[in-house]
Amino acid sequence: MKDKIIIANWKMSLSLDETRKLASEFKQEFDSKKWQNKNGDIVVCPNFISLTEVGKIFKDSCVNLGAQNVFWEEKGSYTSSVSPSMACDAGCRYVLIGHSEVRKYLLENYAMIHKKVKAVLKHDLIPVICIGENWDERKTNKRDFVLVEQLQTSLNSIKLIGDQRVIVAYEPIWAIGSGTAIEPAEAEYAHKIIRLELNNMFGIQTVSNNFRIIYGGSISSDNVASFMELDNIDGSIIGGASLKIEEFSKIAKIILDI
Ligand code: PGA
Repeated sequence: MKDKIIIANWKMSLSLDETRKLASEFKQEFDSKKWQNKNGDIVVCPNFISLTEVGKIFKDSCVNLGAQNVFWEEKGSYTSSVSPSMACDAGCRYVLIGHSEVRKYLLENYAMIHKKVKAVLKHDLIPVICIGENWDERKTNKRDFVLVEQLQTSLNSIKLIGDQRVIVAYEPIWAIGSGTAIEPAEAEYAHKIIRLELNNMFGIQTVSNNFRIIYGGSISSDNVASFMELDNIDGSIIGGASLKIEEFSKIAKIILDI
């Protein structure tokens, strides 16, 4: 069975104090014995202000740290930015790239996303590349085209070295934060399109070994099981439902098969 992955995206939801508290609860829960045989990885992405603090809390823990974004340059006059090596300094293993909220509010585009993917891989961080169509694109049957284009632009000419990993998160924009996930069958279809295009670009073997394709958008403990039974879904990225340890832990149990 393939390793699964569950990513908590805490967005801009918590103060430093609240973040510390929740991170300690995550550590306490997931480092306990009952999680020892879990099938896969847990990642938490707090806001930038909290990264180093949470990095300290998760040191020697099985919970991995992720950044919610990075810039593609290494150092210099890039006010407000954080580089991949700075994310490494804080203890990050993962970086979210191209989240739809960054695309929407900070006008990030896929040319920028491509630069970030390249920079992140250079530092041996694992990029979590977010793709997904908006409601208009879905309504007008453009979803498949949009997904293929987003993959091609963000991963164009990227070469993976050895066992370098890439995670593609399929997040239909209209389902994020809406409280209603899409139909699992629709997610399965979108994931098949993504896998086929990745196979075209990287070859079946590399995709099977190095890529994971996960779903995000209003996942909760009530609906996660119906997604995890599907063949092409390797895990999930979770926003709202990751802010309470009880709810997140229920979801993690189903994804990581505990
Ligand atoms: P949500 O967010 O689970 O609150 O819909 C998911 C995401 O934005 O990654």
